Amino acid sequence: MHKKLFIPGPVEVAPEILKAMGTPMIGHRMPEYAKLHKGVTDKLKQLLATQDRVFLSTSSAFGAMEGAVRNLVAKRCANFCNGAFSDKWHNVTVSCGKEADAIKVPWGEAITPELVDATLATGKYDAITLIHNETSTGVMSPLPEIAQVLKKYPDVVSIIDTVSSMSALNIPVGELGIDCCVFGVQKAFALPPGLAVFTATPKALERAKGVPGRGYYFDFLEFAAADEKDNTPSTPCISLIYAMDLQLDRMFTEGLENRWRRHQEMAQFVRAWATERGFGLFPAEGYRSVTLTCATNDAGVDLAQLKKALGEKGYAFDDGYGKLKGKTFRVAHMGDMTLEDVKEITGAIETVLKQQ
Ligand SMILES: Cc1ncc(COP(=O)(O)O)c(C=O)c1O
Repeated sequence: MHKKLFIPGPVEVAPEILKAMGTPMIGHRMPEYAKLHKGVTDKLKQLLATQDRVFLSTSSAFGAMEGAVRNLVAKRCANFCNGAFSDKWHNVTVSCGKEADAIKVPWGEAITPELVDATLATGKYDAITLIHNETSTGVMSPLPEIAQVLKKYPDVVSIIDTVSSMSALNIPVGELGIDCCVFGVQKAFALPPGLAVFTATPKALERAKGVPGRGYYFDFLEFAAADEKDNTPSTPCISLIYAMDLQLDRMFTEGLENRWRRHQEMAQFVRAWATERGFGLFPAEGYRSVTLTCATNDAGVDLAQLKKALGEKGYAFDDGYGKLKGKTFRVAHMGDMTLEDVKEITGAIETVLKQQ
């Protein structure tokens, strides 16, 4: 039985997207690929509201996230950490041989502009990594305000993970001045996993030129050279790029404002539902994710049992990430999901809880 996905990625993929993945194969050095590549990267630039370079990486998000630190950290990196994925990014940065500090706040809290300002004011760092939407805790940090602070530090290259937020709300990468914005496609893009996207400003590409040990697969300069010919350095996941092409069309057909509003409505519904049913919300007001709700188990429910029962009913449900397992649960409301879908999962949770 297929379990309908309500976990925070991968999420359900529309049948027409799966069908687009079955488009007959082309060679990536054929003109047909260059046309597809240009079309997709142009549409991504429109979605991201940027004129910067947009690259397609055949990898999960962490491939491009690792590539970003390998290419862009010359001196020392400040890794802002407020959950499992940002903690991991710090470990990845260190494992790439980079000098780096983990600037930690407790899980559930946001990274604030004040913290970014105080950290960069030390003058120790030439790069930062920051996760906009910490999927492990459901915390969304205030990116526009942080971006404003970053403008005070023109020598610092900003590497921002929008893995679980891009396309669910307005993130105008160009206007915000993000040097390298990285995201995968199995979350708010509602595509199967295996493709990541990253941007690079001229400043980021200039930085990469002076950084040794960039490797090959994620070398930003290789990507830039290939992109001149509407191509990628290595064979790309062409089927997924076909799917991305269609998904971008679907986004523009829905209308970006409508898409952002739909995500807000789903988030508001799930938050209200959780609190009415005696659960808490893990992130503080003002920092709650628009793509997933991380609820605290204040009602004392056996979450493992709930997950099992929902699985038997055909729903994939998440009972907390890492050290939050059993203490919190997460409901995804992103991608192609609608209010009806989130009502379906909350309804199913209620049915199971009544039976228990
Ligand atoms: C915020 C965030 N960053 C990074 C990742 C890692 O992405 P991937 O598994 O595609 O490498 C995830 C995955 O859930 C995530 O939620």
